[in-house]
Amino acid sequence: MVTSSELLTLSPVLPVVVLHDADDAVPVAHALRSGGVGVMEVTLRTPAAVDAVARVAREVPDMVVGAGTVTTPQQARQAADAGAAFLVTPGCTETLVSAALDTGLALLPGAATVSEAMRLAERGLHALKFFPAEASGGTDALRAIAGPLPWLRFCPTGGITMDSARRYLELANVDCVGGSWLTPPDAVAAKDFAWIEALARQAVALTAPER
Ligand code: 3PG
Repeated sequence: MVTSSELLTLSPVLPVVVLHDADDAVPVAHALRSGGVGVMEVTLRTPAAVDAVARVAREVPDMVVGAGTVTTPQQARQAADAGAAFLVTPGCTETLVSAALDTGLALLPGAATVSEAMRLAERGLHALKFFPAEASGGTDALRAIAGPLPWLRFCPTGGITMDSARRYLELANVDCVGGSWLTPPDAVAAKDFAWIEALARQAVALTAPER
């Protein structure tokens, strides 16, 4: 079982994957894995998502698959039942955090402000998704948060690209970034899994320089 802090160290980029057809789940997982990325977040934004999580959990044992865009307690339980290894939320309510923690899975909860981050830290959650990263102040905001709260670890997500990822990965409080660009909708629709593999390879090469 992966812990929340381990989750942030599995890959420089946590792929945020939207799947409309559960049949694409296993080939996408294999493509990411072949490119060197061993973790993926399947967003619960499509009817196919829970099935997609279940298939990857069952058929791709060397992929750590989690569920993202978890916004309700029911989704947290559904994802856990499907075999998700972790849950990602865009933001947090007390109810959602409690339900997510009850599953026993690693949790990457979303926070966009200092107060949200502090509330999550009070509940023992120190690995957070900074979302929406670019819209919430980007690297400047994360650098400022590191002043009073240096022990918090972040996976900024939202508006980050292959080009901007490196600036985030240079920050002392960032372990990885999240992004949907590793699995472009066009690549998934065209079943161009070689394209996804190539993007995964580029992502793995995004290593943070010495801090
Ligand atoms: C998410 O759900 O984490 C974001 O929508 C991903 O953001 P991006 O599409 O800008 O990478």
